Amino acid sequence: MSITITWHGHATFSLNIGGTAVVVDPFFAGNNPAAKTAVGAVAADFILQTHGHGDHIADTVPLAKRTGATVVGNFEICNWIAAKGHENNHAMNTGGGWNFPFGRVKMTYALHSSGLPDGSYGGNPGGFVITTEGKHIYIAGDTALFSDMSLIGQMGLDVAILPIGDNFTMGPGDAVEAIKLLKPKVVIPCHYNTWPLIAVDAAAWAKLVSQHTSAQPVVLGVDETYSV
Ligand code: NI
Ligand code: MN
Repeated sequence: MSITITWHGHATFSLNIGGTAVVVDPFFAGNNPAAKTAVGAVAADFILQTHGHGDHIADTVPLAKRTGATVVGNFEICNWIAAKGHENNHAMNTGGGWNFPFGRVKMTYALHSSGLPDGSYGGNPGGFVITTEGKHIYIAGDTALFSDMSLIGQMGLDVAILPIGDNFTMGPGDAVEAIKLLKPKVVIPCHYNTWPLIAVDAAAWAKLVSQHTSAQPVVLGVDETYSV
């Protein structure tokens, strides 16, 4: 089964897992200054929602309503989306996993916050590990460095998607420390260069990754795809 990962800028990705479209943190052109793709052009069977901040959820409800996709997120965010008129949600919470048709999804801890754009309580922030066909893909979500990343690393990660932008999440240096704990084969950076506050030289960061870890850094351009 083929797995592809496409970056749409900021923390928005679409994965194609054996023909199933899985969109992470929908934030597309018009809302996302780094994105080129409009939400109307995106296919989704499932939407994975790491937390409630606007730079991750701005396009979730319109994408879910148009496509009928199942939204996977924490309990509070799923209730919020249901109240907006999209009932097809799958609520989870930190540490739990569920076997979806495309693979197993485990919700991981993230060290961040999660308030929703209208001020509603957004539960706890999280990340996801997708396990499918023996591959493990970790999407950290917005997070600081935390030592329990070593436990996530024990799963044997093929790909880790990590924020590197600093200010709101871990920066480039802590992301290198995270890689030492996670030990992924491949690392894809995100949550940088969307705004001046999170400007990062990704090529310089990739050099650090290669110098200090055994992971292969894959720096995607906007709308570029990596095949796992
Ligand atoms: Ni956030
Ligand atoms: Mn964010």
